[in-house]
Amino acid sequence: MEINFLKYPYPDKIRHHASSNIYFPINNLRVIPQHYPPLINSINYADIFLNGKCPNVLDVGCGKSKFLLNYAFQNPNDNILGLEVRKKLVDWLNNLVLGEQIPNANALWYTCVNGFDFLEENSIDKIFYLFPDPWPKQSQHNRRLFSLTFLNNIFRILKPTGKLFLATDCDYVDEFHKKTLEKSSQFDFHYSSIEEWTFPVTNKEDFCLKKQIPIYKIVASPKK
Ligand SMILES: C[S@@+](CC[C@H](N)C(=O)[O-])C[C@H]1O[C@@H](n2cnc3c(N)ncnc32)[C@H](O)[C@@H]1O
Repeated sequence: MEINFLKYPYPDKIRHHASSNIYFPINNLRVIPQHYPPLINSINYADIFLNGKCPNVLDVGCGKSKFLLNYAFQNPNDNILGLEVRKKLVDWLNNLVLGEQIPNANALWYTCVNGFDFLEENSIDKIFYLFPDPWPKQSQHNRRLFSLTFLNNIFRILKPTGKLFLATDCDYVDEFHKKTLEKSSQFDFHYSSIEEWTFPVTNKEDFCLKKQIPIYKIVASPKK
């Protein structure tokens, strides 16, 4: 599908990182900051997807949504839901989705550290966690979303045949993903082959490919 992106200019001044509090669960905060993404208890999917169906694919930290949009076009039978802490990007995407009447894509302003209780158990086929913020400093590691709790939450919502797809351009983030997956013991995982990763590129991946930066891709499946 051809979109005239001139009709949908990107918002000005998109901050690279939003306020640091939003990377922590709401229960850990003494004061809830003004711009903390709202908790989601349940969703009426008819309110967000134009086709009214439930999501079966998640894009965690969808950012500027190049991947999400192309995935939606290439997979008309899937419903892809993006989850993103930067509200301006979510508003931008949903305005485009409405403008172009894209039936199977949407994003929610949400911080995934608060879990996925609003999604049904065993309901998701694919979860993409692509090029997460690396938070390289030791003092920032607690802002990383990828954790045993995150994997537990993912395990609950993935179908037994479902898959978690991870990508990063940082070797230390890749190591951290592998160590956390090993600790969790709920997933089998391996580096993806080229044939297995038949997905559109993300905004960050596009950048890495142009600069010839190596990318690490892992596919994880719930243990049977
Ligand atoms: C480096 S960007 C990558 C975006 C996109 N996946 C790509 O590959 O181009 C990481 C994204 O994750 C979002 N993010 C970080 N922590 C998050 C969280 N706890 N919940 C939801 N989104 C988060 C950031 O705002 C940012 O847009």
